[in-house]
Amino acid sequence: MDNQKRFYITTPIYYPSDKLHIGHTYCTVATDAMARYKRLTGCQVMFLTGTDEHGQKIEDKARQAGVTPQQFVDNIVTGPRGILDLWKLMNISNDRFIRTTDSYHVCAIQKIFRKMYDNGDIYKGRYVGKYCKPCESFWTDSQLVDGKCPDCGREVQDAQEEAYFFRLSKYAGRIQRLLEDTDFLEPRSRVHEMVNNFIKPGLEDLCVSRTSFTWGIPVDFDPGHVVYVWVDALSNYITALGYCNDRYHDYEQFWPADVHFVGKEIVRFHSIIWPAMLMSLGQPLPKKVFGHGWLLLDGGKMSKSKGNVVDPYILAEMFGVDALRFFLLRTFPFGSDGNFSNEALISTINVDLANDLGNLLSRTVSMVDKYFGGVLPERQEADSNKDGELTGLIAALRGRYEEQMERFAFQNALAEVFKVIGRANKYIDENAPWALAKDMQANGPRLARVMYNLLEALRVSGILLTPFIPDSAGKVLEQIGAGGDCSSWESAGRYGALPACAAVRRGENLFPRVDAQQALERLEQAAQAARKAALPPLELEPQAEEQVDFDTFCKSDFRAVKVKDCQPVKKSEKLLKFTLDDGTGTDRQILSGIAKWYRPEDLVGKTLMAIVNLPPRKMMGQESNGMLLSAVHTEHGEERLNLLILDDSIPAGAKMC
Ligand code: MSP
Repeated sequence: MDNQKRFYITTPIYYPSDKLHIGHTYCTVATDAMARYKRLTGCQVMFLTGTDEHGQKIEDKARQAGVTPQQFVDNIVTGPRGILDLWKLMNISNDRFIRTTDSYHVCAIQKIFRKMYDNGDIYKGRYVGKYCKPCESFWTDSQLVDGKCPDCGREVQDAQEEAYFFRLSKYAGRIQRLLEDTDFLEPRSRVHEMVNNFIKPGLEDLCVSRTSFTWGIPVDFDPGHVVYVWVDALSNYITALGYCNDRYHDYEQFWPADVHFVGKEIVRFHSIIWPAMLMSLGQPLPKKVFGHGWLLLDGGKMSKSKGNVVDPYILAEMFGVDALRFFLLRTFPFGSDGNFSNEALISTINVDLANDLGNLLSRTVSMVDKYFGGVLPERQEADSNKDGELTGLIAALRGRYEEQMERFAFQNALAEVFKVIGRANKYIDENAPWALAKDMQANGPRLARVMYNLLEALRVSGILLTPFIPDSAGKVLEQIGAGGDCSSWESAGRYGALPACAAVRRGENLFPRVDAQQALERLEQAAQAARKAALPPLELEPQAEEQVDFDTFCKSDFRAVKVKDCQPVKKSEKLLKFTLDDGTGTDRQILSGIAKWYRPEDLVGKTLMAIVNLPPRKMMGQESNGMLLSAVHTEHGEERLNLLILDDSIPAGAKMC
């Protein structure tokens, strides 16, 4: 056990300020695939994820929602369809989950802050600069891009307060060497970005405490200050192992981390600030930070305020968890940005899973069933040179896959597996088992070998797909009768591990084809509902700033009117024509653009309010004498209108004042 290799991998800990979307899911699924792969290869794995719960943004959101910050984050982390539910749904196999509000973490952060203060790396000063609230980041003027936050492009605010500072500048040289001379940060392109944008212009000391809000970890030796949320958040990677606390005891075993997977916009925190903090604490540095790309929608970032976030719950419910996991890692190169689209998702499911893998499995299993009653005979033809290409690919697959997985190139690793699956499908056509089966006497041993080779292709592919589609890959192996030793990592490295008399067990169709048109329609409906829900629930016209004097107001003649008749106006979608009793004894005609909200017959007999001294106006060739009054507002982006309907006891012609 002690010789077992250890592997510690982390995701960023997520802000529970909103529900998570497919972009967040992407990183966690990738980390999960890596953790499962390492377990498969025999490593003892620690996979950590969690939530980053402090900061002004959370405090503000909680206030808006009328709850305490703790209640607010609890709901998003542990509530229905919250973060924990999402990871359960996505079959995420994390070994630990940290919340930065966990008391052991809070105490550990206070100790960490004090250690850095005691060793002289944290000192008290005055912060003057800019602050980006959504990113919880301080910026100097020179770092702003067009006066806006360089990370998210939003407005920044002036900020000035007494604060503690971390001597980040002291570590500039060491950090630059770490980035330039080692493989600490990958992909390599991110190194140039960090060095050119942040280190070369001069690394400044970092403001690491705030006094303008309270939802944070208090600096225990200076009440009123809370620890900067990134110092709190980054330290999760060590506090979750037991650093500066007694809750866990795995620090010696697992630190330094083998890799932190992080999105590209937080590479700066992980590759500059985090190593500097560790240097200050005298602790070893993580072996690697990998900055992955973003999933984009229509070329832009997903954001709740744009109403364009893709909900992983909806996709997983429609297509299945494994199909979604597979799509994310098969389609996008992990280190670069990728454009998410429903069309691409459906096509990947249909091409790779339904056509290629699904067909190979169902054809193979049903042929073994049909030709051999489900169990292959021991007597098989010795390898013929017709088989060499396929069996060679099977034998080499694990090595090729491993090479890609070790570089976090999930897409390429899957491409290797699908090369073998594609080759196996072609092998069926080349060998035409249905033709061989016509003369079992003569061709039985050859047919058995063909079937065996197909099962072997499925077995090795199934094992190597386990990190990506754990449930379905398990079912593939079950259907082809590859249990126990034949499903191990070791056995995936060679052709021929399956016993000759393998027994298949026909099961459900694992990857049904998706009807693209139907699925796209359903997704569009869901997206529309989400866009609507993202709009403000209620929008009111701002009140007029210009004042009217009382005499002018009194000139407007408002009267109660009774609807004698109401008809749609021909060729107009908007207008209704009202015949009204206004108390004068002569009918009054008013045209009103409210057909969208009312049926004419429902208004007959109602008492309404009208202004009657407006000059006559022609609409669609008809005269309108006055205007009916209504209340208008916008609800979830939709305009609403309500006529002012008065009590029927008010007589026609009564003046409103
Ligand atoms: N709380 C910080 C991380 C602290 S780690 C010590 C944070 N949280 S986050 O919830 O905003 O983002 C978590 C991760 O999700 C980040 O790595 C971010 O890049 C990733 N993603 C958010 N949207 C994404 C996409 N659209 N695509 C891919 N990843 C994205 O940052």
